[in-house]
Amino acid sequence: MTSTIFDQLQKALYIDSPGGDFVLKSKDIPKPCPGEILVQIRATALNQDWKVKKYKPAFITHYPFLLGGDVAGVVEEVGEGVTEFKKGDRVIHEGSWSDRHASYQQYAVAAAEHVAKLPENVSFEEAASIPLALATAVISLYSDCDRPEGVKKLQPPPWEAGGGGAYKGETILVLGGSSSVGQFAIQMLKLSGFSKIIATASLHNTDLLKSLGATHIIDRNADLVSEVRKLLDGKNLNLIYDTVGTPEIQTQAVELLAPGGQFIAAALVSIDAAKFPDKHFVTLYADFRLPQHWALGKSLAGSLHDLLASGTIKPNPIEVLPNGLAGVVGGLQRLERGEVSGKKLIVRPQETP
Ligand SMILES: NC(=O)c1ccc[n+]([C@@H]2O[C@H](COP(=O)([O-])OP(=O)(O)OC[C@H]3O[C@@H](n4cnc5c(N)ncnc54)[C@H](OP(=O)(O)O)[C@@H]3O)[C@@H](O)[C@H]2O)c1
Repeated sequence: MTSTIFDQLQKALYIDSPGGDFVLKSKDIPKPCPGEILVQIRATALNQDWKVKKYKPAFITHYPFLLGGDVAGVVEEVGEGVTEFKKGDRVIHEGSWSDRHASYQQYAVAAAEHVAKLPENVSFEEAASIPLALATAVISLYSDCDRPEGVKKLQPPPWEAGGGGAYKGETILVLGGSSSVGQFAIQMLKLSGFSKIIATASLHNTDLLKSLGATHIIDRNADLVSEVRKLLDGKNLNLIYDTVGTPEIQTQAVELLAPGGQFIAAALVSIDAAKFPDKHFVTLYADFRLPQHWALGKSLAGSLHDLLASGTIKPNPIEVLPNGLAGVVGGLQRLERGEVSGKKLIVRPQETP
């Protein structure tokens, strides 16, 4: 009998116990089910995964546990019924935290409906900066996430008919505009037509954020309320997008939100939302595999190749770390210390020693 790739083992970086260390282990290579694709991961990105070690989220019920939400790579095998992809295609898709779908491994499977072909003008490393952060921006703005009754998502998303420019004349404040999520939120908001996109960041990221569509940059250390008020013509905001998540910033920002306004918390809500009954706080778990987000993920995947090929969506600036998956731990420490500014840390899993 001839051997196949599934007779081999691959390397994967697991978090080994609640609050435990990241450890490299050998594991099987997952087989694609009907409708799925197996991808050899050429590049993946680091997210704020140190939080999983530190905060031990209750929804993680088994260990060792596999993280990683970003895949850029090459199709290794297609499952039954998949006709749009073939072995060797360059692709990009979101990883999902589970043994078969997460990206802190060398091979992962994904639903073909959520995979896009990667155009030649985007490298694997650049592409790896995109999936989870873009999914977070897209789901939080355009999907039915945890929105209170009557609080509307933006619609349609800008790549769908009628979506481009639909919010002309509107203003939004993006807290943490240079974060990876912030950079994609700004790009989406620009495509949706927002006329005034005010972002907070370190000022050395001003040119970057303006190139993505932010119209006004406020120094993250300035007095938020007075600086934003100067730009609002006496009005309050209907929409605030927060990627920072600290109580200090949320306490100030909520003052700027109009009654009925929406505070989208990509990070988390760290103030007592019950004290603001006339304001709406939106949280989310950004995974296109969730049933409520599946169709939006499929819609985005159908347009992502063209959005990237045309430069309509730009990857984050990147820094590639050495040693493949073994480089993740040091990178996460830098992220936890707040030492990464305006860029995404990337590893190449195939280089794992
Ligand atoms: N809900 C979900 O499913 C989901 C999914 C993905 C991520 N997230 C969360 O979303 C948040 C952003 O993640 P990320 O990966 O995009 O983060 P990131 O890129 O690692 O964030 C780093 C950036 O944060 C900015 N920043 C830090 N403190 C700031 C402050 N006080 N004011 C303004 N900017 C500040 C820094 O800006 P400067 O360098 O310009 O100062 C830096 O560029 C995290 O909390 C993450 O856990 C949630």
